[in-house]
Amino acid sequence: LGQKVHVYGEVDSTQTIAHALVASGASEGTLVLAEAQTAGRGRMGRAWHSPAGKGIWMSLVLTPKVPVYFMPQLTLLSAVALCRAIQKVCRVDIGIKWPNDLLIKGKKVSGILLESSGEDERLKYVIAGIGISVNLKVEDYPEELRSVATSLAIESGTDIKRETLVQAFLLEFEELYALYLQEGFSPIRLLWEALSVTLKRPIRTHTPMGVIEGIADSLDDTGALTVIKGDGERIKVYSGDIELR
Ligand code: BTN
Repeated sequence: LGQKVHVYGEVDSTQTIAHALVASGASEGTLVLAEAQTAGRGRMGRAWHSPAGKGIWMSLVLTPKVPVYFMPQLTLLSAVALCRAIQKVCRVDIGIKWPNDLLIKGKKVSGILLESSGEDERLKYVIAGIGISVNLKVEDYPEELRSVATSLAIESGTDIKRETLVQAFLLEFEELYALYLQEGFSPIRLLWEALSVTLKRPIRTHTPMGVIEGIADSLDDTGALTVIKGDGERIKVYSGDIELR
């Protein structure tokens, strides 16, 4: 992975560029990196704050031969790879909030957005979009993000070389991806569970069936989160956001 790297100055979104590269024949492992994004995309239609030179804004092309409904597993795998890479490169106490937000002291430091294209239940390709707030300072955040977002530099007290972290991520990802393609999701699920800051904690989530409150209990084989409500009922959460209470 990362044998073919495309580096840009300012782009709208590295995701858009990666989709276009796939359309013109880019293969698995192609990596798109940008210094800045003017229209960085987050999950659920949100924007992603991507100022110039301060973060890692990248998209990785993957072509796993798995069914479309395995996407959530790839999402969780990406979070594990990124969490392990960050742990190796800097001294911070970092954990994963379901499904794939990385948090330090409850604040978000990185986000992952997987976009896919499929055909007949098979994935054609996946673009794993990864945003890491590496060297942003408090003043680089708009006021409204300051209580919920942070950066590796703010939390570790020192600037971090972005190249080192990109390399560490690719190594971790490559290792876990090979394990996943060989052995399936169970080893990844164990690693995810060990890094989670969600499990066994009270959470709240908004679903099409209304608000659910309960204790986040475990991950199932598909990557869904099992929540145990106050009355003992077990509910599976497949997508969306959870709030830690
Ligand atoms: C989220 O937590 O909502 C996901 C954020 C994903 C941001 C990254 S930055 C690189 C790639 N390009 C984008 O436009 N988004 C992803």
